[in-house]
Amino acid sequence: MIEAREYIFIKHKILTLTGVDLNCYKTPQVQRRLKTYLIRSGQTDWHRFFRDIRDDPTAVSKLKDYLTINVSSFFRDTDKFDYLQDTILPELLRGHRQLRVWSAGCSKGHEPYSLAMMLSEATGFYHQHYILATDIDRSALDHTEAGGPYTEEEVSKLPPSLLERYFRRADDGYYVIDRLPRQLTVRYQNLLSDPFEEAFDLIVCRNVVIYFTTEVKERLYRRFHQALRSGGILFVGGTEVIPKATDLGLETAGISFYRRRA
Ligand SMILES: C[S@@+](CC[C@H](N)C(=O)[O-])C[C@H]1O[C@@H](n2cnc3c(N)ncnc32)[C@H](O)[C@@H]1O
Repeated sequence: MIEAREYIFIKHKILTLTGVDLNCYKTPQVQRRLKTYLIRSGQTDWHRFFRDIRDDPTAVSKLKDYLTINVSSFFRDTDKFDYLQDTILPELLRGHRQLRVWSAGCSKGHEPYSLAMMLSEATGFYHQHYILATDIDRSALDHTEAGGPYTEEEVSKLPPSLLERYFRRADDGYYVIDRLPRQLTVRYQNLLSDPFEEAFDLIVCRNVVIYFTTEVKERLYRRFHQALRSGGILFVGGTEVIPKATDLGLETAGISFYRRRA
């Protein structure tokens, strides 16, 4: 464990430098990651560490990336995306021709582009839906806006028909074709402090809340509930379960899916 006073100092420094409030994250996990980061940086002392990175935006951004973890993949948990496509999407599209969809914690774009491809396949390429992609990590958002590059490995698990239809190959990797990024609204947002838009048909927030404390998670789920239209769906990560979902006004709509009750 990091000594209590030192941890207060570290949290304060990280909040000022990166905008990330570590009070919202589970202490043991965060402390483990912090210790590893300090060792990897070749340092032993936090005061010195912060003095060194203070005027180095790249180093600050690296620290933020490390703390917020942006691992992702296209159609992450294929079985859940299959369920979204076969069961949830037809339900949402029944009454609402244009959907409002939000990928909250979109990382480098795998998730919102998976959603954009799925919607294009379901309703046609030129049918405009609103797809909002937000994250706290600006470099991940730049990647999302650019539509790549994605590595061979990253695209290798995509169905060949989607790879062919929606990607082009460049010298530095694969990019989604230009029309796909145009379907996204990409925006910086801290889920723990910034305002939310409303009336979403589908909110996808997966593998983002895992390190948040129980209270922070509950507050966030309440806000997601508010941001959904009645009957709208919240799609969470493969290992995430919302405790007492009914108390929050949500009902189960399948494994990893919750519906805002009318
Ligand atoms: C592990 S990735 C998940 C990406 C994608 N949702 C998926 O499931 O593959 C977690 C993402 O959440 C973002 N994140 C973490 N804390 C956040 C916060 N407070 N507000 C917005 N995004 C946050 C990180 O920057 C990172 O890109």
